[in-house]
Amino acid sequence: MENKKVIFSGIKPSGDLTLGNYLGAIKNWVKLQDDNQYDCFYCVVDMHAITVKQTPKDLRRRTLEVLAIYIAAGIEPEKNTLFIQSHVPAHSELSWVLTCNSYMGELGRMTQYKDKSAKGGESIGAGLFTYPVLMASDILLYQTELVPVGKDQIQHLELARDIAMRFNNAYSDTFKIPEGYVNKQASKIMDLQNPEKKMSKSDENPNGYILIMDPPEVIRKKISRAVTDTVGKVNYTDDQPGIKNLINIMGTIRGVKPEEIVEEYADKGYADFKKDVAEVIISELQPIQERVNELMSNKKELEEIYKSGAQKASYVANKTLRKVMKKVGFIPR
Ligand code: TYM
Repeated sequence: MENKKVIFSGIKPSGDLTLGNYLGAIKNWVKLQDDNQYDCFYCVVDMHAITVKQTPKDLRRRTLEVLAIYIAAGIEPEKNTLFIQSHVPAHSELSWVLTCNSYMGELGRMTQYKDKSAKGGESIGAGLFTYPVLMASDILLYQTELVPVGKDQIQHLELARDIAMRFNNAYSDTFKIPEGYVNKQASKIMDLQNPEKKMSKSDENPNGYILIMDPPEVIRKKISRAVTDTVGKVNYTDDQPGIKNLINIMGTIRGVKPEEIVEEYADKGYADFKKDVAEVIISELQPIQERVNELMSNKKELEEIYKSGAQKASYVANKTLRKVMKKVGFIPR
């Protein structure tokens, strides 16, 4: 265990999870666990979720549902540490120290902050500004080497690296410098209604995304309505972003290259292609949905998993936190 590389990743339960979260993040995690050379921490980052207003009841349900989705997708609790962020206080404790070692300028350059704050007008929460520091803390507490995420999180990961290097330079070696890990084909699953932007759980138009828990008929409808183009041929090109996105979705699920799909559908129209894309998604998600429903109907099992996960995570996180506190000059407790 000692010399295994550490992996850390998380998803925020701020909305129901999408196919983008599944293909860009979770499906990758499942693959990495099979390598058996990593010590993996997967967290439900509920503290990140409250950077935007949440209904407490929904947040509670979603937090458990995200954990259930991790397990149902194949992240085995026996092999990985699964936990809820707010159960490990070290995350917020390190976050304060690192906030004091971060710059307004670098945080202001985060594109996600810029996009979200542009919509927020006068009432932009300060948490939206400082949240990349909390994310850096999540990662750095575990001496993480690899962070499997979608492309949209790479900028935050680079900030985590910058903060870690700055801290190491100022106070001597403390943190491992983490690397990002993206699955190229699924690094950015696009919105079905506007394939120029990423599929997002916070989108107002539900036709733009597929939820992991969407029933089959809804998936069929959403895929059949997905925006395409007038070319009428299944090609893998930036000129046909809607079709390219559907190829990426199908290719990631089936584990085949885009060219193979293009070849397979050379003589077929969009209607046939879309029908098959929908069925591929449904057969991938259906068993996951069934297991999620099972887990959600018996919270005891989930409770045992997140409690023992928090214990394991706390043990590792506190080792790093103690070092940090000592180095910055706090009196040991
Ligand atoms: P979040 O909750 O927005 O997204 C969770 C994961 O899903 C990926 N993702 C996508 N991948 C491909 N295509 C998409 N359309 C798509 N949408 C989302 C994201 O890249 C991410 O990997 N701040 C993070 C959560 C976080 C975290 C961390 C991640 C907190 N602490 C530490 C890694 C390590 C976030 O908001 O992700």
